[in-house]
Amino acid sequence: MRRMIIAGNWKMHTDIEEARKLTLGVVEKVGGKTEPAVILCPPYPMLPAVKDIIEGTTVQLGAQNVHSEDKGAFTGEISTDMLQSVGCNFAIIGHSERRAIFKETDEFINKKVLKVNSSLMIPILCIGETLGEREEGLTFQRVEQQIKDGLNEVVVTTGNDIVIAYEPVWAIGTGKTATPEQAEEVHAYIRELLGEIYTPEIAQDITIQYGGSVKPSNASELLGQPNIDGALVGGASLKAEDFCGIIEAGS
Ligand code: 13P
Repeated sequence: MRRMIIAGNWKMHTDIEEARKLTLGVVEKVGGKTEPAVILCPPYPMLPAVKDIIEGTTVQLGAQNVHSEDKGAFTGEISTDMLQSVGCNFAIIGHSERRAIFKETDEFINKKVLKVNSSLMIPILCIGETLGEREEGLTFQRVEQQIKDGLNEVVVTTGNDIVIAYEPVWAIGTGKTATPEQAEEVHAYIRELLGEIYTPEIAQDITIQYGGSVKPSNASELLGQPNIDGALVGGASLKAEDFCGIIEAGS
């Protein structure tokens, strides 16, 4: 069974008080919902405080990044074990901001996916083309490369082992959303690729989220597409009311 998943990527926003308030706002409105699944991905220092508040609710915890090694001299990095020890179930990997600003390569992203995949957490692998790539007609080629490289040697035996987030870079934080048709076209292609890499049955069960300027006003139409199984929400996840509006749209 394919799961609808709405995740809030808070990026580098909130202090501890804002994080608590935002989490409480989400929990009050949707803390008992099982469909769609709801994940909060706050900055690392806020994880334990958010965990305390979501404890006993259906809301789950995710990290915005993770390192590929278990431990060692990697100043500033965080391991899967550390994340698991504070209650994370998911880790976002390969976000376009990590790729563009921090120069993460498909090879490094693949190492992280392999690491998270071998832990108890579930990777949310982000992929998506830039505006230049779309304009040059390279969308499908870019997405195919990111999927194939990101999932190289990654063993997936059920649809619940991994989440894919399609986030066209030109739609992130710009207010420009892909039209439901534009998004659906790429999502269907991603599912086809997943079917070739794994099996069509497994591919049918893998959640493929859309991300890029998702808000309550456009969520229903996006989430109503046959191959769009959730949203990875940036800006609108920083307001409980907006985030919960998107969750309602996915209910
Ligand atoms: P926005 O919703 O702010 O466009 O961000 C999308 C995103 O990058 C989620 O990971």
